[in-house]
Amino acid sequence: MLQIAHSLQQQLKAAIARAFPQAAADGEELDPALGPASKPEFGDFQANGALGLAKRLGKPPRLIAEAIAAQLQLDDTFKQLCEPVQIAGPGFLNLTLKAEVLAAELHGRLEDPRLGVEKVINDINNSATIIVDFSSPNIAKEMHVGHLRSTIIGDCIARVLEFRGYRVLRLNHVGDWGTQFGMLISQLKQVAPEALNTADAIDLGDLVTFYREAKQRFDNDSEFQTISREEVVKLQAGDPVSLKAWGLLCEQSRKEFQKIYDTLDINLQERGESFYNPKLQDVVDDLNRQGLLVTDDGARCVFLEGMLGKEGKPLPLIVQKSDGGFNYATTDLAAIRYRLGADGDAATRVIYVTDAGQANHFSAVFQVAKRAGWIPAEATVEHVPFGLVQGVDGKKLKTRSGDTIRLKDLLEEAIEHCGTNLRNRLKEEDRNESEDFIQHVATTVGIAAVKYADLSTNRITNYQFSFERMLALNGNTAPYLLYAAVRIKGIARKGGSLDGATPDKLIFTEPQEWALARQLLQLDVIISDVETELLPNRLCNYLFELSQSFNRFYDQVPVLKAEEPARSSRLALCNLCANTLELGLQLLGIQTLERM
Ligand code: ARG
Repeated sequence: MLQIAHSLQQQLKAAIARAFPQAAADGEELDPALGPASKPEFGDFQANGALGLAKRLGKPPRLIAEAIAAQLQLDDTFKQLCEPVQIAGPGFLNLTLKAEVLAAELHGRLEDPRLGVEKVINDINNSATIIVDFSSPNIAKEMHVGHLRSTIIGDCIARVLEFRGYRVLRLNHVGDWGTQFGMLISQLKQVAPEALNTADAIDLGDLVTFYREAKQRFDNDSEFQTISREEVVKLQAGDPVSLKAWGLLCEQSRKEFQKIYDTLDINLQERGESFYNPKLQDVVDDLNRQGLLVTDDGARCVFLEGMLGKEGKPLPLIVQKSDGGFNYATTDLAAIRYRLGADGDAATRVIYVTDAGQANHFSAVFQVAKRAGWIPAEATVEHVPFGLVQGVDGKKLKTRSGDTIRLKDLLEEAIEHCGTNLRNRLKEEDRNESEDFIQHVATTVGIAAVKYADLSTNRITNYQFSFERMLALNGNTAPYLLYAAVRIKGIARKGGSLDGATPDKLIFTEPQEWALARQLLQLDVIISDVETELLPNRLCNYLFELSQSFNRFYDQVPVLKAEEPARSSRLALCNLCANTLELGLQLLGIQTLERM
């Protein structure tokens, strides 16, 4: 549909230029204001450009619309695409694509594994590099629900961009550096010295408890504090024993994180904060050379433009603390420099997926990077913020006993819930299925439900986590969509349309067929929207509405019992709908099922 819209845009521009040569000669952009029709009865597209032009030319919009329409009707390419233009309201141009154009478009998709979604470039090696910085938990700390959101949203964004043909670097910017390692290493040396004397990594047990104990000692024991501070210096100087301890701690955390990534089917490349450690001094030096650095109270910082603090004074972004240490912001500045730099990743777009609470951090970092000239003109950096995960009571998500929820438990619970629901349903339907089947379906649906619940709400808003809601078989949920996909594929299979028997020509007569056909053709538009706006909920809503259109079609129009040629055309619609759902779910990071 994007290509057709593009071609209509050209034809409209040309028609305006022919109708109003003077306006065109002004050199001002003649915007046809082409968009999708606001209602299906208005056709496929609507162009509202006559209104803007009317103001400029001082003529009634209706007259202008008529003149443009007359010019369009003289254009053969336009006439092949559209029915005669309708003028509505004060001067809207309503455009309806010809039935045979829609049918031919749809036909092309039957054999197209990309379902009409174009690739930005065919050669991945020449494609622009986009970095998606997501998940990014912290070593020796719990991966919490905020990281879960980042993981799910970031993965979906990466999948969509990969599908569009970009080279995508999925970077896990783990918190694996910083002063907290002083206390962690000191603790490790004291409680598990044996770990430092073996060649292999040994199991350090639960690092979260380990972290808590270390922190408690650090807060209460001044001797331990001193040792810990010395340990940071040793680590930074590259002392081999300290480095080994650091490596062991990272390795242990990595193993824990990996279990979650495996469960969620997430692919990530770890490039933690430590990677940028050797590049931090350069950041400060470069800022200094450019005259951006100010020493304030011993700390070196850049004062931010347009970001004011409480007393109306510009806020500083501290890049080097008074003790000489660097911080989170310094690391992100080094990362931007490297990621966009020609001798680094040379990326053209960097996307950061974190909670909305980090919005100020990123706007400060982006501003400083821009002023320092580290963001090339053709590149963009974007923070993709998301809201909090809450319990159904709107408060912070907690277990029944009031503890913070562990991700592993949360995912296990989703799977368990799903298993219980499934067993009940099987009993009701008097079905007998193997334990393997139940396990597989419960795991797939459970994980899908957690992902979909997150992706289907607008990410900016807080979202309420409810197993009940996300596992419902009806409504905008993963089980509903997975079930629709299974059912539609079943119908297509029964009718034999999955065996590759594509009819030569598609013929549609019923409004329900046209509604479904038009919606199927929107896939490329939706994908392109997600690519620019980075809002996965757009894709979710599309898939949900598509399933609903399918249901209306299937309830009201006979398919398997229809006569030819209607039967094969309708089966082709089923087939395409099944493929569209499958591709869409795959881009959301959701696995589909054959049966459920
Ligand atoms: N580790 C950080 C956290 O847990 C997230 C890092 C996000 N990425 C970045 N480049 N700052 O909040």
